[in-house]
Amino acid sequence: MIYTLPNSSNKNLANVRLEIRALQPQLIEWRRHIHQKPELGFQEKLTAEYITQKLQTWGIEHQTGIAETGIVAIIKGEKSGDGKVLGIRADMDALPIQEENQVSYCSQHDGVMHACGHDGHTAIALGTAYYLHQHRYDFSGTVKIIFQPAEEGPGGAKPMIKAGVLKNPDVDAMIGLHLWNDLPVGTVAVKPGAFMAAISIFNCTIFGKGGHGALPHQTVDSIIVAAQIVNALQTIVSRNVNPLDAAVVTIGELHAGTRMNVIADTARMSGSIRYFNTDLRDVFESRIEEIIAGICKIHGATYRLDYQNLYPPVINDSEIANLVKNAAEKVVETPVNILPEYQILGSEDMSFFLQEVPGCYFFLGSANAEKNLNYPHHHPKFDFDETALVIGVEMFVKCVEKFLN
Ligand code: NI
Repeated sequence: MIYTLPNSSNKNLANVRLEIRALQPQLIEWRRHIHQKPELGFQEKLTAEYITQKLQTWGIEHQTGIAETGIVAIIKGEKSGDGKVLGIRADMDALPIQEENQVSYCSQHDGVMHACGHDGHTAIALGTAYYLHQHRYDFSGTVKIIFQPAEEGPGGAKPMIKAGVLKNPDVDAMIGLHLWNDLPVGTVAVKPGAFMAAISIFNCTIFGKGGHGALPHQTVDSIIVAAQIVNALQTIVSRNVNPLDAAVVTIGELHAGTRMNVIADTARMSGSIRYFNTDLRDVFESRIEEIIAGICKIHGATYRLDYQNLYPPVINDSEIANLVKNAAEKVVETPVNILPEYQILGSEDMSFFLQEVPGCYFFLGSANAEKNLNYPHHHPKFDFDETALVIGVEMFVKCVEKFLN
């Protein structure tokens, strides 16, 4: 359904809000459509088609097929001015989770679910594109809306940057948001500096020597080796990292063995490491290998380690963070609804954009406990309060106004 808005300049704040709030039924429709057709990273074909079809219908200039499924919409302001360029980023991918919600707009793709709210990010970005295009006579400069694949991994930001999305016209600053169910709807968390953590990941296989459960002296028990490694890895944060630096090591997987009376030949584990201070990147990489190698050696086991520094930390530029905070003051109004010191050890490949240009990534509260919409992200019952969609559009529109005018 196409929604026609009046084309006019000189809107006051109240009218802007009314116009954006009038988009709510469309935002919900788009979000629910995308929610029903979730797709994993770099496979967002239906999602990309849906976005493209909207942009085409609205007459918005765009490029498709960037880093597989990525799209860039370009909205040029028609008001004369200095022509700055603001980038807005939305991620499009879903997760390999079976949805457990009983809702009319439940996932129709078995084992795949929008359990992180990226369906909402895409709808908010579409709403922002639509609104700005309708109001292109009210601003100067250009807004590039970047629909990015594969945020959940292996990461679509880097290949999109490599494909040139920040060039021609060159993006001066980037903003982006994440719906956030740790915060109630109607709140915004925005912080200058380190906002989200860097992430490194590893896979490790321990090679022991299997055998009979009653004859351990003839074997090298990979489970004993793995158990000691898991415990020892926790000493990196507690004994090698300054206690004032936040960091976490999580071993998320440990697999070994086939039967109670068989000593396991091999054990396999995988883990993730999060930290804000990038000086720790090499500390973690070397300590993890030293611990694995050392423990394997004392037991006569060997190992294979694949270690990867995945995303850098999300570092917000103080000027742009301040601009987002000023926008939030207009949108959510009461200062108590703005959280200026919030940060988490979650990670995001928005960080690659923020390494290239100054910018700010912020959280938009989306939980509503009264409606049971407060399951954590990546939970099979994750869902959010859709009122957050209009707030998201209003936040982006305010940021555009402040940045370009
Ligand atoms: Ni997410």
